[in-house]
Amino acid sequence: MRRPGRRESSIDWIFLLPAIIRIAGNRLSRLEACSTFMITRKRRVWVTGADGLIGSHIVAAALGCAPCFDVAGLTRAEVDLVDFDRVRVLYNIQQPSLIIHCAALSQSPVCQSNPALARKLNVEVTAFLAELAAEIGFIFFSTDLVFDGRKGYYTEDDATNPLSIYAETKVEAEQIVLRNPRHTVVRTSLTGGVSKTKSRGFNEEILNAWKAGKTVRLFSDEFRCPITAPVTARAIWELAALEPRGIYHLAGGERLSRLEIGQLLAERHPELNPQIEPCSLLEYQGAPRPPDCSMNVARIESLLSFKLPGLAQWLQEKPKADF
Ligand SMILES: NC(=O)c1ccc[n+]([C@@H]2O[C@H](COP(=O)([O-])OP(=O)(O)OC[C@H]3O[C@@H](n4cnc5c(N)ncnc54)[C@H](OP(=O)(O)O)[C@@H]3O)[C@@H](O)[C@H]2O)c1
Repeated sequence: MRRPGRRESSIDWIFLLPAIIRIAGNRLSRLEACSTFMITRKRRVWVTGADGLIGSHIVAAALGCAPCFDVAGLTRAEVDLVDFDRVRVLYNIQQPSLIIHCAALSQSPVCQSNPALARKLNVEVTAFLAELAAEIGFIFFSTDLVFDGRKGYYTEDDATNPLSIYAETKVEAEQIVLRNPRHTVVRTSLTGGVSKTKSRGFNEEILNAWKAGKTVRLFSDEFRCPITAPVTARAIWELAALEPRGIYHLAGGERLSRLEIGQLLAERHPELNPQIEPCSLLEYQGAPRPPDCSMNVARIESLLSFKLPGLAQWLQEKPKADF
C-alpha cells in the first residue's frame, strides 16, 4: 500500500471545502483553494490499479495535484481485488472516503477471448467496490467504447451501444455504479504515457513495434480523442476535489484517426525510422470496431481549471516529455 496515512479524528474541514470553493469562484482554482484553507484532516483515497497506466499516473500526480488527499495506491501484488473478504478487511481498517477505481481487464482482445474473466474483473469487482463505497465517493473509469461509433462527438446523454465484450462489461458496470447518486463514471479515451511495463500506453505499443523494426498498420478511418495519462491524472484530482456525481467524458480536445496519431509519434521519433502502413476499417476482419468514438468534453471542462489539450497540442507543449 503506498503512502498509507493516519486516520485522524479532528474537525473535518474538508466537508466545508465545496462551499468555500464555490464562494471563491473564479478567483482561485479549486486546488489552490484546497491548499490555501486550513485543513486539519486529509481524506484517505484509494486508487485501484495503481500499477496500471492511468492509476500509476494518478498516484504519482497526487503529490502536486492533491494536497487535500492522503493517497493509497492499491496494486495487485498488495491485494487481489477479487479477494472480496480481504478487500473488505482492508477497507474497514483504512476507511477511505473516496475510491478511484482504475483496475480493470482493460485490453479489449483479452476480454473478447475470456468473457468470464472480463465480467469478473470489470463488472463484479466494480459492483463489490461500489457497494463497499456506498456511503463515500466512488469514481469509476469507463471507456468511449461504450458507444457504437456511428455518430461521433458523443455527449454523456447519448445512448450506449457496446460492440465488444470489453465495452459490454463497462456498460454493465456503469449502470451498477450509477445506481448510487453519490457515485461517478468517468469515460475516457485512448490513453498514452509512460507505464511501468513500458507497454500499456498507445504510444508505447507503437514505439515498441518500431523499435522491433516492424511496420505499423493504422486505420485512417477510426477516430478517438486520445489523451495523455498526466492530463488524465490532473483532471481526476480536480474532479475528486469537487465530488461530482454522474457521468463525465474525459478525453483529449482533438479528434484524431489512428493514422494521424501514428504520424504525430513518427514526427516525434525520427530516430526510430518509423514505418506506417495506412489501412481502412473496411479491410478489417475481426470483432466489430466502432469507427468514431470521439467525445464531447464540455461537461467536464466546465468544472476543470484548464482546457483539455488535443494530442498534437500536448506534444508541442511538452517537447521533452518521454512519450
Ligand atoms: N488506457 C486506455 O487507453 C483506456 C481507455 C479507456 C478506458 N480505460 C479504462 O481506464 C481504466 C484504467 O486503464 P489503464 O490503461 O490504466 O489499464 P491498465 O494499464 O491495464 O491497468 C489496470 C490495472 O488493474 C490491475 N488489476 C486487474 N485486475 C486486478 C485484480 N484482480 N486485482 C488487483 N488489480 C488488478 C492490473 O494489474 P496487473 O498490472 O497486475 O495486470 C493493472 O495494474 C480501466 O478501467 C480501463 O478500462 C483505459
